Amino acid sequence: MKHLNVIFLGPPGSGKGTQAQKLSSQGFIHISTGDLLRREATAASHKGQAILQIMRQGGLVPDHLIFELIDDVMIRHCGAPLVFDGFPRTLNQAAWLSSFRVDVACIFKISDAEALGRLGRRVMGLDGAIYDTERLPPPPGVQYLRRADDAYAIHIERLQQYREREAELCSFYARKGLLRTVDASQSCDRVAKQIETLLKLAGSLAEKKSARLAESP
Ligand code: AP5
Repeated sequence: MKHLNVIFLGPPGSGKGTQAQKLSSQGFIHISTGDLLRREATAASHKGQAILQIMRQGGLVPDHLIFELIDDVMIRHCGAPLVFDGFPRTLNQAAWLSSFRVDVACIFKISDAEALGRLGRRVMGLDGAIYDTERLPPPPGVQYLRRADDAYAIHIERLQQYREREAELCSFYARKGLLRTVDASQSCDRVAKQIETLLKLAGSLAEKKSARLAESP
């Protein structure tokens, strides 16, 4: 498949991380701002503690801190296919990324009720693997924990933060002709199949575009 840069937009619990992990096993670099921030929040520094506080309240971390983290990772993985998971989350973040080539922005559609149900069952392996205590339980002997922001009141706040910005972010990518919808309520395998189809289409569009550019005088 052609080298692509992909964005996953969607509410908490819609399965962005699960699908981004699948893509990382196919050679994509998975850039999750949530994971980068959780790592940063383990530091005893003032910055680390400030990030932890915001995440525990379900708020959004200020854009300038996000840009610092993302910039660093993008420089390290320059030239590799990237999947952005949970970034951009604000119009300012989307504008910041617009100097970078994005091939497709997948919006994960799911109801709040389904997302909340999933979040209530989520646990994480120490290696970052994502499990569901009922449908995809951690294998015996595997250690796991719940994320510090996996509590019902915080889920509600995170969903609200997301829904407030969803329409403007979708419009931003729709105007660029990059927005594609994923029915995230389906099973993990079916969602992965939808994404595979979207990426194939995006890949052939990108190939046609570069062929046209090569032909033009
Ligand atoms: P972040 O870590 O990005 O969380 P999120 O976007 O809220 O999304 P989640 O990770 O909760 O859900 P997901 O969609 O990845 O679902 P998952 O695959 O885990 O952000 C956390 C916080 O960091 C934010 O609140 C904010 O404070 C801060 N932050 C992050 N990015 C920021 C940014 N750009 N700007 C400012 N602040 C930022 O799946 C969920 C569960 O469902 C799992 O149990 C899984 O097994 C299950 N599941 C997945 N897919 C399916 C399926 N198809 N069917 C059934 N079950 C499924």
